[in-house]
Amino acid sequence: MRRKIGVLTGGGDCPGLNAAIRAVAKSAIQRGYEVLGIRNGWNGFLDSETMVLNRINTSGIIDRGGTILGTSRVSPLRIENGPQQVFYGFKRFGLEALVVLGGEGTLSVTSKLSRMGLPVIGIPKTIDNDVMGTSFTIGFQTAVQIATDALDRLRSTAESQHRVMLLEVMGRHTGWIATYAGMANGADAILIPEIPMDRAKLEELYSMLVTRSQKGVGFSIVVVAEGTVLEGKTVEVSGPDTSTGGETARLGGIANVLGGLIQSKTGLETRISSLGYIQRGGVPVAYDRSLATAFGVKATGAIESKTYGVMTALKGNRIITVPLDQMEDRVKTMNLKIYRVAEVFFG
Ligand code: F6P
Repeated sequence: MRRKIGVLTGGGDCPGLNAAIRAVAKSAIQRGYEVLGIRNGWNGFLDSETMVLNRINTSGIIDRGGTILGTSRVSPLRIENGPQQVFYGFKRFGLEALVVLGGEGTLSVTSKLSRMGLPVIGIPKTIDNDVMGTSFTIGFQTAVQIATDALDRLRSTAESQHRVMLLEVMGRHTGWIATYAGMANGADAILIPEIPMDRAKLEELYSMLVTRSQKGVGFSIVVVAEGTVLEGKTVEVSGPDTSTGGETARLGGIANVLGGLIQSKTGLETRISSLGYIQRGGVPVAYDRSLATAFGVKATGAIESKTYGVMTALKGNRIITVPLDQMEDRVKTMNLKIYRVAEVFFG
């Protein structure tokens, strides 16, 4: 019987997932394995939705957004007998190991299943870049490029119309996308969850914007991460996301609130834009394709050496593996040393 491995994508989708699926499948096939795609995240074990991956159906997908396997935010740990159904499916599909492409949530579930005995390898992917243990996650650089392109476009209209332009970006409770895109654009202010906006900080922002207007610059670019805390609270679109058993509320709308405050407090014409899911769609940039490819090959190498319970990671310019339990239920918040570099150019 030929040896067989499984691969699934869980949680939010992101550019680069298909590049990683391609790398896992093609490198595993080269190592003599059959590869079974598990559809729609962990759901594929619960409802036996799978697809055989081969050289044909994993060709020509390196530059395709999304995931050919589909994904979901369903967690087996929140379903009665969920883990048992995963183990049962794993055995029934005849798998030797499972590669899980996920963000902080999915890989935390994977780490717990690993402790229950499931032979797994994680690959970190999310536009948020908030997975502990790796410098970058698949999808992050593409989101940064999309946000930077948007900021560049906003800059030209802000300058022409002498306005304050706000752009809301994703990132959940971290400011990685906002900081990297804001720095790349030369934004005049970057607001992130790691630096709560209390009343004093808001006054500083208003004053900086008025000064820029008065000294004849006439326009400003402000990037705000969706999870930024404004006077003690975050702005949410809806309550707990119970559709997938999630407990966390969906973030979104802070730019509307902040834009209204800026306009009323400073009298400056202010307009807002929110990138939303545009920063999660479309073609991955070259960096994410290469990172995904390197992670995929590393993952199948770990399987061949039976190194389970680990996650591929980028450390400097090296691709390594780190124990999954090091990232479990933790969030990698923004490195403020990087933020302070962007801050040099504020105002
Ligand atoms: O985790 C990736 C992400 O895009 C976050 O930046 C965002 O807050 C969240 O997913 C949105 O979740 P959903 O796709 O379930 O609406």
